[in-house]
Amino acid sequence: MSTSGTASPQAADITPAKGKLGIMIPGMGAVATTLIAGVEAVRRGFAKPIGSMSQMGTIRLGKRTDDNTPLIRDWAPLADLNDIVFTGWDIFGGNLFDAAKTAGVLDRDQLESMRPFLESIEPMPAVFDQRWVKRLDPKVQKIGKNKCDLANQIRNDIAEFKSKTDRQVMIWCGSTEIYIEPKPVHMTLEAFEKGLVEDDPDIAPSMLYAWACLKEGIPFANGAPNLTVDIPALQELSKKMNAPICGKDFKTGQTFIKTVLAPAFKTRQLGVSGWYSTNILGNRDGEVLDDPDNFKTKEVSKLGVLEHIFQPEKNPELYGDIFHKVRINYYPPRGDNKEGWDNIDIFGWLGYPMQIKVDFLCRDSILAAPLALDLCLFMDLAARTPTLRGLGIQEWLSFYFKDPDTAPGVYPEHDLFIQSMKLKNTLRHIMGEDLITHLGLEYYGD
Ligand SMILES: NC(=O)c1ccc[n+]([C@@H]2O[C@H](COP(=O)([O-])OP(=O)(O)OC[C@H]3O[C@@H](n4cnc5c(N)ncnc54)[C@H](O)[C@@H]3O)[C@@H](O)[C@H]2O)c1
Repeated sequence: MSTSGTASPQAADITPAKGKLGIMIPGMGAVATTLIAGVEAVRRGFAKPIGSMSQMGTIRLGKRTDDNTPLIRDWAPLADLNDIVFTGWDIFGGNLFDAAKTAGVLDRDQLESMRPFLESIEPMPAVFDQRWVKRLDPKVQKIGKNKCDLANQIRNDIAEFKSKTDRQVMIWCGSTEIYIEPKPVHMTLEAFEKGLVEDDPDIAPSMLYAWACLKEGIPFANGAPNLTVDIPALQELSKKMNAPICGKDFKTGQTFIKTVLAPAFKTRQLGVSGWYSTNILGNRDGEVLDDPDNFKTKEVSKLGVLEHIFQPEKNPELYGDIFHKVRINYYPPRGDNKEGWDNIDIFGWLGYPMQIKVDFLCRDSILAAPLALDLCLFMDLAARTPTLRGLGIQEWLSFYFKDPDTAPGVYPEHDLFIQSMKLKNTLRHIMGEDLITHLGLEYYGD
């Protein structure tokens, strides 16, 4: 049945996930190598895909009394992990075994057991510009006469990968680029494409990958806080090409916890006067973020969360005067094992103050890899789903992001449980199932 007009979507409308799914990754550092080695470890039965909703999550269908709660992966037509093929780009050369060793996330023994597989993947030379990531010195990069030429070189790489795979998605796992506000060149596709030819300084490398990807009709997800596809020009291209987009910035550690705790205070009408968040991080991401211009991009992404959850303009007595601070300090001894502290000053009945301290000793890429996997699988599903593929931004995937991209004029939902409900209801919707509203009056009628 067609999903055009008012007809309800049906599972049968979704094109089946046949053949190989190619995952293309600009930036093959800690997150990308942990994702790729992790998928291979799961495929070989060495480990479980913990943290991945698409692999381990369940979904209730129908009434609570129906007892029908399948695993999402058994019910939704997602690509099988055995059908995934990886490629990508980076500036360091070498292969993914070396890159994973440098990242220092997974144990040496675990990497050794997958050595031939990891050595078989070599990142392609990247499109890179040090103006955008100041702390990194490239060993290999593409050379071109202008940005249009460079973007077309990426298109050629994509075309080559297309000949080896049946469907593709791209996910940016590259470094965080410096902070910029949208400029006129980002406002229309026409201005953007003119800017490519004219080498406009406000077009970032990540935007070149995104443009090339969307031009090829391939979905693009952004795991970093850069603007990238959060600009009207690329949103226009996404809709035009029926190539879904989403972003930005994986919601993994401190912000994940923040978007669980803040809704709890709000729902109990507890006030908040201060929220001080600091991190120590010693991986390459931490090194890149040590530059103030790159940190600014991350800071903006992390700061917006409380504003949207607490809605201080609607609750001025409880949330009108919050001191919110976020810091990230580069501290090499910890490597990828980040420590994030939160001190939260709250107040309750009659204004009496209380404090909560959170100390999250997490592993950055261990938390990010399953999110990257889910995003690839769900973006591939979106591209095969008539109801979703022409929408441009896939807001139902905001569950995965610190700073979710949304339609113009629509504020983002940051509450993790609203985001999770949105994701699961979208899956129910496209599969022709009833949505779950939690109303539940039917259990109490005659
Ligand atoms: N928990 C997490 O790990 C987490 C959470 C949220 C966001 N992120 C973001 O995800 C991204 C990746 O994180 P990571 O820990 O893997 O960092 P990383 O430094 O280990 O890897 C990033 C890689 O991108 C490469 N790169 C930079 N510019 C590039 C370009 N133009 N083209 C191709 N490659 C390029 C770098 O050489 C590096 O190898 C960062 O932007 C980070 O802020 C990570």
